[in-house]
Amino acid sequence: MRDTTNPGFYHTIEQIRNKVTLSEYIGKDVILQKKGKEYLGLCPFHNERTPSFTVNDSKNFYHCFGCGAHGDAVGYTMERRNMPFIEAVNFLANQYGISLPRIDDYKVFAEEKKKRNTLYDVMEKTCAYFQRNLKTSLSAEKARQYLQKRNISSESVSKFRIGFCDGSCVAFLQKQGISYEMLSEAGVVSGHPNNPKDKFTGRITFPIFDANERVIAFGGRAISTGQNPKYLNSPETALFQKRSSLFNLYSACQHTKSSPLIVVEGYVDVITMVQNGFPQTVAALGTAFTEEHISKIWQYSNYPILCFDGDAAGLKAATRAAISALPLLTPGKTLFFCYLPENLDPDELIYKYGQASMQKQISAAIPLCDVVWNHLLAKYTDDPATPFLPEDKIALKNDIVKIASSIGNPEIGAAYKSALFDKFFLLFGKNKEKSSNNAKKTLLLNSLNLKRNNVVAQKIILGILLIVPILLQELDEFLLRTNFDDLDLLEIKEWLLSMYFLDTNFDEEAFMQQRNAFLGKIGMDVLKTHASFLFNKNVTNGEILQRWKDIWSCMDENIVADDVSFVSLPFSNFDKGLWSRMRTLSARSREAIKCM
Ligand code: UTP
Ligand code: MN
Repeated sequence: MRDTTNPGFYHTIEQIRNKVTLSEYIGKDVILQKKGKEYLGLCPFHNERTPSFTVNDSKNFYHCFGCGAHGDAVGYTMERRNMPFIEAVNFLANQYGISLPRIDDYKVFAEEKKKRNTLYDVMEKTCAYFQRNLKTSLSAEKARQYLQKRNISSESVSKFRIGFCDGSCVAFLQKQGISYEMLSEAGVVSGHPNNPKDKFTGRITFPIFDANERVIAFGGRAISTGQNPKYLNSPETALFQKRSSLFNLYSACQHTKSSPLIVVEGYVDVITMVQNGFPQTVAALGTAFTEEHISKIWQYSNYPILCFDGDAAGLKAATRAAISALPLLTPGKTLFFCYLPENLDPDELIYKYGQASMQKQISAAIPLCDVVWNHLLAKYTDDPATPFLPEDKIALKNDIVKIASSIGNPEIGAAYKSALFDKFFLLFGKNKEKSSNNAKKTLLLNSLNLKRNNVVAQKIILGILLIVPILLQELDEFLLRTNFDDLDLLEIKEWLLSMYFLDTNFDEEAFMQQRNAFLGKIGMDVLKTHASFLFNKNVTNGEILQRWKDIWSCMDENIVADDVSFVSLPFSNFDKGLWSRMRTLSARSREAIKCM
């Protein structure tokens, strides 16, 4: 028997894929510039003057349009360092603190590869057989009715390759020459070798795919009373590691360009979500949400939303996921959380209250930092009206320091510490003005961009502030509450806010240059067409302010966060000197745009 505790090279490679952010790794020796979802730079593998070398973190590969060089982290290391495959794997494993396979012998590796290919083949055959069973087997009638009752459409049945096991699959595969040992390694057989039985008999089967759309495991749903457990999952095999697999990941990651990845708890939840306009949904598989899961989903989405059932178990699971994410946080990547009401899971919520209700829940997801804060508070009181004991207050303070220090990235750790202390001081009603720049930075990151909408309005809102930055004095909080889908727009928002809150000594020339670049991104013609008042010198700043508010108040609720999350920031930074500088700048800036 093979040693399943040592899954060997593939496991190491898989871990390398999970851990290495390709743009960061390659960025160490190639200057890369972010272009949308990809990075662009001069190809290290051939001589070129204009960049045609791209790096795509979510797809995990680099590609050169000039010379055709193409590969992943291992491929890059082989090319760049002139290393053979095994050496490159070892090199990366060492660099990223990944444990090396005990087997470092290529022959064993080659055998392992062959075996894996056979296993993939067994899984594929099994899946196809289960699909046929569901369609044609007499004993599948109940399963077909069950799927109908659960509102699982026939499109979903074929898209997810849902099947049914009538108990004849093992015999069928053995007849095809597949050995008991192979079936056992694939995890589809139970019982003694002399009397082998199908593992999933009498169950509806949901196959789990890897990133290459190959079947690696099954979840089997019971459909009769007395059939336990409710879901029977494949055991861990050479192909399937529960801790890092996600149901529907392959398909979901094709849809994460414009919407954040959503993680739910169950198979049926995923299917219902996909059927109702959330194709970017995945689920963990009968395990807690692990660190491996987090690293994996961050490859596809910077702000994934974890959606937990609205029961005590869901809350507990959410808190656990939040705490385990802290050591892994890196700049620009975080988690959002969504708790469903009334003990409902997404499937039940959608059928009870409709798709829009689910969308609302998703839009109201709360940032990680708030989940951490709620968790810290919950330790001391369930009732916010109960006064805090002085001892508890100090204990809470210590907890903040402790939890912030569990964050691996020191800058983020510091930002969390100040953000949590801001909440602390807000709660105890003093020292509000002490909030530091770091806390503000975190607040800037807190608004989530969930839904594409009113793109023109979003552009105008930012365009006005770029041209008349003095209005930030009135509009900073409104801007904070505005969510932008588009990364370029988000960048402009963050730039404006950080200039306003953090960089009171900004350099005017640099400001003008940067803002011109941003105006270019927004497009002057959009502003000329839809905000011509900006170009009329008889229109006062006060009138522009009013227009801005009018546009803002007409925006979709997904763009504009409601009052609950209204963030109050101190104005102490906005001193007289800055104010007069901003005023001159705004006047100069309005003058200058006429020629643009
Ligand atoms: P739930 O018990 O919340 O069920 O399990 P569900 O997803 O709502 O399922 P339906 O709607 O009754 O069909 C959530 C997930 O936990 C795992 C499965 O992955 C399931 O989808 N699970 C649950 C198991 O692995 N085994 C079980 O016995 C139960
Ligand atoms: Mn359910």
